[in-house]
Amino acid sequence: MNPVLEDIYRTGKCVDLAGRERKVTGAVPREDALILQEMVRFVKAKTTLETGVAFGLSTLAICEALLKDGAEAGTVPGSRAGPREGTVPVSARRVADVSPALDARDSPRFRPKHYGVDPEQSTAVGGAALANLKRAGLDSVFELLEGPSHLMLPRLVEKGVVLDLAFIDGWHTFDYTLLDFFYIDKMLRPGGVVLLHDRSWPSKQKVIRFIRTHRRYKELPVRPRESGDRPSARGESGTATVCLGGKRWQSQTLKWVRRVVAAKWHWLRGAPFGIVMSAIANRPEIAAFLKLESFEPDHRFFRNF
Ligand SMILES: C[S@@+](CC[C@H](N)C(=O)[O-])C[C@H]1O[C@@H](n2cnc3c(N)ncnc32)[C@H](O)[C@@H]1O
Repeated sequence: MNPVLEDIYRTGKCVDLAGRERKVTGAVPREDALILQEMVRFVKAKTTLETGVAFGLSTLAICEALLKDGAEAGTVPGSRAGPREGTVPVSARRVADVSPALDARDSPRFRPKHYGVDPEQSTAVGGAALANLKRAGLDSVFELLEGPSHLMLPRLVEKGVVLDLAFIDGWHTFDYTLLDFFYIDKMLRPGGVVLLHDRSWPSKQKVIRFIRTHRRYKELPVRPRESGDRPSARGESGTATVCLGGKRWQSQTLKWVRRVVAAKWHWLRGAPFGIVMSAIANRPEIAAFLKLESFEPDHRFFRNF
């Protein structure tokens, strides 16, 4: 993982464009940043998007993987083999492998790009994400669309942008999240992946039900894992580890205590039951959906979701 991102996770702080130190809040946890990177690699992404940039932690993770693994892997001749063994179901791999959109953009001249949509980058966080990206040397692939996603995403649709991966983490209400998904679905190629953060929130669960009932997507299993762990289809290694004297020790008790404390914290803040349970179960808050095909139902279609 990029040292700048590692440093922010270690200290919980970063520096904005004016050189002021800022406390980082509301960012995806480190495990989720690793999942994002894994997904960028899985789809060999060249063009990605996220709604909700804030301090840019998810942005740093995506841009790093895009430059290092995703796009590079896609441009190496003969590298069109499927994603790494064991990370996704076989049926999912087939869709990604045969995607015609990927072929059309396989030229080495096709530059990787990550679009970030956020109305408050300059105001609320003083351009902290932009400063972080510059410090990490990842700013060349990033384009900020400073405005709410319901106004910015249609512009990209109009431009004919094709996405390999998108991450929804903007305004978390049902309506905004559904609109994010609606426009992203129009740009995402078959074989691409859309990810939603805070999946246990009732608003996100509702959108997830919409995806399942109204579009042709397949949910991918995501499991937390530390960067040193080997990738695993079932994510057996999905727990934090501590390194003592050069040897890895699983600290199950410590992990359990941390989970209970986190759950209690959510509970005291009046979080929905789903979030509390998710904290105890240590389930990743990311949901990932692989697009099987472009599909919209007939205009008379209705199904409860
Ligand atoms: C949870 S934070 C994003 C955290 C970020 N993904 C990370 O991991 O560092 C949510 C962000 O959504 C932004 N936001 C609010 N309304 C939005 C909208 N209508 N469209 C897009 N982003 C929005 C906020 O300004 C805030 O920066």
